[in-house]
Amino acid sequence: MIGNIRIKLSDIILSFSRALDFVNPVMMNHHIRVAIIAGEIARQYGMPNNEIANIFLASTLHDIGAFSLKDRLATLDFEIKDPQSHAERGYFLLKNTGFDLLSDVARIIRFHHLPWADGKGAYFEGESVHVGSHIIHLADRIEVLIDRQKYILNQGREISDMIKTKAGSMFMPDVVKAFEELSQKEYFWLDAASPEIDQIIYDRNALPDVELDIKELLKTGRLFSHIIDYRSHFTAVHSAGVSEVAALLAQMAGFSDMECQMMRVAGYLHDVGKLAVPTEILEKPANLSVEEFNIMKSHVYHSYRILEAVSGLEIINTWASFHHERMDGNGYPFHHSI
Ligand SMILES: [Fe+2]
Ligand SMILES: [Fe+2]
Ligand SMILES: [Fe+2]
Repeated sequence: MIGNIRIKLSDIILSFSRALDFVNPVMMNHHIRVAIIAGEIARQYGMPNNEIANIFLASTLHDIGAFSLKDRLATLDFEIKDPQSHAERGYFLLKNTGFDLLSDVARIIRFHHLPWADGKGAYFEGESVHVGSHIIHLADRIEVLIDRQKYILNQGREISDMIKTKAGSMFMPDVVKAFEELSQKEYFWLDAASPEIDQIIYDRNALPDVELDIKELLKTGRLFSHIIDYRSHFTAVHSAGVSEVAALLAQMAGFSDMECQMMRVAGYLHDVGKLAVPTEILEKPANLSVEEFNIMKSHVYHSYRILEAVSGLEIINTWASFHHERMDGNGYPFHHSI
């Protein structure tokens, strides 16, 4: 019999955040790199620790509303066209999840591309805009200006000069000032481009220390299932349906209440690896080519690796990620058999 489970919200958010960037190697770790940069700027700006945690969390999910590869690649242009639509979608996905924490994060994400416009950007339709939105705006643009092919310390000056020209118009001047102070320090740039992101996140201890019980895990699973499913109109409620049916089957098979709820979570998350599959393939109306199917097949592998990083989800992971395995070993990707 399985007892209660406790999952760290930060583990699940970070692995989900990583998954958002699997879709293309040019944006590998974009969300977490933005979080590291934004967290440091927020600290330098003098924000209190709880606000830094919110900004860090919002950064790890900031482009959650950019669903297709095309949308994501468009966010890598320094001057993005129509930046507000993905920011609004992100806001709508996160604002009513039932977690106060994520409602604050949703409001920060909503304005992460709002230009400062000589102070007009302090408000949007009469509502004040969180400084965190302006911090993420700047951190995000710094991250896309970093050329991953060049050594980082040879780029700092050029990036700083470019940012300075946009202080007041694009970026909030006080936030640019905090960045300029930081940009004198080598560690800031070395962190921004470091492959040791796990170590840096651990070192900063920036994410809120929140543990989820099974009820909250169900809410989180449902939220993620929306994001997984919204990426394709063919599968708009697929994960919710799988979750419902799987929980019912588990009940009929004599699983305990706790196990049935865990099965529900597994249903919500079973296709989380599809975040790594371009929507151009998920949405293709015709049959997939062999090459496209090979990419599609990787979604269960990614589901396994994404969920593996979350301590406490081990059983749910095996239920979720082996859903294309077969009893005779002819499934994929692990070819497990009974
Ligand atoms: Fe964005
Ligand atoms: Fe971004
Ligand atoms: Fe699947």
